[in-house]
Amino acid sequence: MNFKEKNNIYVNMIEERLHNIIPEVDEYCLDIEQAMSYSLLAGGKRLRPVLALAVAEMFDKPFDEVINFGCAIEMIHTYSLIHDDLPAMDNDDYRRGKLTNHKVFGEAMAILAGDGLLNMAYEIMINDAVESRNIEKMRAAGIVAKYAGALGMVGGQVIDLQSEEKTIESDRLKTMHRLKTGALIKAPVEAAAVICGADKKEFELLSGYAANLGLAFQIKDDILDIEGTVENMGKNPGNDSSCHKSTYVTMYGLEESKKLLQTVTQEGISCLDAFGDKGQFMKELALSLTVRDR
Ligand code: IPE
Ligand code: IPE
Ligand code: MG
Ligand code: MG
Ligand code: MG
Repeated sequence: MNFKEKNNIYVNMIEERLHNIIPEVDEYCLDIEQAMSYSLLAGGKRLRPVLALAVAEMFDKPFDEVINFGCAIEMIHTYSLIHDDLPAMDNDDYRRGKLTNHKVFGEAMAILAGDGLLNMAYEIMINDAVESRNIEKMRAAGIVAKYAGALGMVGGQVIDLQSEEKTIESDRLKTMHRLKTGALIKAPVEAAAVICGADKKEFELLSGYAANLGLAFQIKDDILDIEGTVENMGKNPGNDSSCHKSTYVTMYGLEESKKLLQTVTQEGISCLDAFGDKGQFMKELALSLTVRDR
């Protein structure tokens, strides 16, 4: 089976689980269910849960062991996108090929839809851990919480907003990318590694892979903001310059950013050498993300 076929199988499994993940809410607040499902089920690459499944396969563990965690992280990621698009943040009108959540449901409901997804994500992870009486799953939920919060994505978003209309130092830019995007890409890899019983060395290597993948992913996102199209991406390019964001492109220029994308990706890939053939899918995944158009 080639890379694309395997990725499609993973994505289909994830879509199926996500379609059944939001339970019925009280009949008096059906709007929140609609707003949460609107963004969660709008497609997207599903990179974060794909990474969780890929780690499970690497350790010959059943996908069922990690799929709830992967999907919970996708819910947290989706919440971060809903809030990222709000007028108070990036003020975007399109996401995943549809109007943004606040454009359809209003700002207040979009904030609540994000809150609902975030909390439901923890409910899913904790219930899974309790039902399977698995302390490693509790540890994994703690890892996800750290990477979603002020030490991870939320912290990165703060740096992002505070770096608008400014020239910032390269360390600050790298930290911003590492946190705002890298953290939620490390989350599924580290959480799945813990659940699958990775030893210390394996954990460090996988973590190194994910850290580089996350940085590379945001460098490519910055490049796509210049070179991408709304048709492919499902979101408007050009928003970084409208918001006067600090990005890899504003700091290093397009050509140098493309070189850095390759270097960082190769660093990530080299972390997987120790896994032999078992690292093949994740290596190809890293390469595919350098040439993505969405
Ligand atoms: C977009 O994430 C926001 C960033 C962290 C760069 P993705 O590019 O993974 O968006 P979806 O999930 O495919 O929509
Ligand atoms: C998003 O970064 C990071 C998040 C935590 C959501 P961007 O603001 O660059 O993501 P896009 O380009 O809107 O998807
Ligand atoms: Mg943003
Ligand atoms: Mg944005
Ligand atoms: Mg962007």
